[in-house]
Amino acid sequence: MISKKMTQALNQQLNNELYSAYLYLSMSSFTNHIGLKGAANWFMVQYQEEMAHAMKFYDYLNSQGEHAQLTAIAAPPVEFGTLLSMFEQTLKHEQFITKCINDLMELAVKEKDHATRIFLQWFVTEQIEEEGNDNDIITRLKLVGDSPQGLLMVDAEMAARVFTPPAATAA
Ligand code: FEO
Repeated sequence: MISKKMTQALNQQLNNELYSAYLYLSMSSFTNHIGLKGAANWFMVQYQEEMAHAMKFYDYLNSQGEHAQLTAIAAPPVEFGTLLSMFEQTLKHEQFITKCINDLMELAVKEKDHATRIFLQWFVTEQIEEEGNDNDIITRLKLVGDSPQGLLMVDAEMAARVFTPPAATAA
């Protein structure tokens, strides 16, 4: 059993994850449009990951006898500038998500809600990986600078990313 306050907070994070999916789907469309097919693949995989994150919150709420409630999702931007700028925006968004997860964890600890704390642990680890991936790509794009050949090389690397469904979360 989880508190009403925790239920509302988890529902909000379900919405945040759906917005993340929406944001990366829009980024995938944009990069596809400007000819960066590898980046379009990378953001499409990220979209799939975010949908899997959203479903973890959905499943957890329902497994706790609560009702996962869907709300309106804000429209993401449709234009994003350079690939470097896109990854800087991505990192900023992931830092926001990390803060949201940390706030949820703090609430779980405060409420002595150990089931939710264990559930959230997976996301704490996941956020380290997400921010790390973005930082690595930003570093590479800064090294490449204004070189079109370098940009195409990074884009080709991004074409290799594949979606691996995450393992079930303990709950
Ligand atoms: Fe679901 Fe990118 O954090």
